[in-house]
Amino acid sequence: MKPIIRTQSLSKTFNNHAVLKNVNLAIPEKSICAIIGQSGTGKSVLLKTILGMLKPDSGKIWFKDTELTALDRNGMIALRRCFGYSFQNAALFDSMTVEENLAFPLREALRIKNQIEINRRITELLDWIELPGIASKRPDELSGGMRKRVGVARALVMRPEVLFFDEPTTGLDPVLSETINNLVVRVNRELDITCVMITHDIPAAFRIADRIAVLDQGYIIADGTPLEIARSDHPLVRDFIRISFVNLEV
Ligand SMILES: Nc1ncnc2c1ncn2[C@@H]1O[C@H](COP(=O)(O)OP(=O)(O)O)[C@@H](O)[C@H]1O
Ligand SMILES: [Mg+2]
Repeated sequence: MKPIIRTQSLSKTFNNHAVLKNVNLAIPEKSICAIIGQSGTGKSVLLKTILGMLKPDSGKIWFKDTELTALDRNGMIALRRCFGYSFQNAALFDSMTVEENLAFPLREALRIKNQIEINRRITELLDWIELPGIASKRPDELSGGMRKRVGVARALVMRPEVLFFDEPTTGLDPVLSETINNLVVRVNRELDITCVMITHDIPAAFRIADRIAVLDQGYIIADGTPLEIARSDHPLVRDFIRISFVNLEV
């Protein structure tokens, strides 16, 4: 399938520490792509580099036919609207209601002034995440799982073409994790949005992703369908799978 995002020889170094090394990654349009790998191996840096929050030292990034790495600041700001992200620490504003949290990007980034249109979009989204009637609540009045879903709603409010998730289920109990993983699937299937998800939940990655990329020490050591990854003979990939599915071996 045609890639919606493609990186070519992406490298990033922080104070002599090479974090990304010649990363070539192609994310198929309308897929769910999981990025897995040990902690500190460059997954978040890869995502932030694609999103334009970090500048690569070398290499190129394309979104469809546009080379992001060749855009100026304004060009990048304009294209960033095609991307949504739900990061672990991208907290909601606690001093604002859910409605204000969702209206904020509509007013500030999309410059929508029409209050009826804003309300319509917010109501539609809250219904969609199955949390109708929480518009006037503040984030600290909601449970952790509800806040997570509102975080996803805020990322969706701009109607992005690609939604990036950085460890959406880390720290959640298994039931809540399942809810969030299912939400990612719904975002992909019902809204036709390409989803790129960093996760430590390897079984979930195998269950919901169309493609899995394994990052190790800044290198992509495997990239393919879950079946291809399961059949990889790379020793680190094999180790990763063996440890993650340890319960299945007994
Ligand atoms: N802004 C930064 N400045 C310096 N070092 C960074 C920065 N961001 C990440 N790093 C380093 O890059 C490496 C990879 O980090 P990260 O991508 O966050 O790992 P992870 O795979 O756990 O998401 C780590 O050693 C981290 O300390
Ligand atoms: Mg990370």
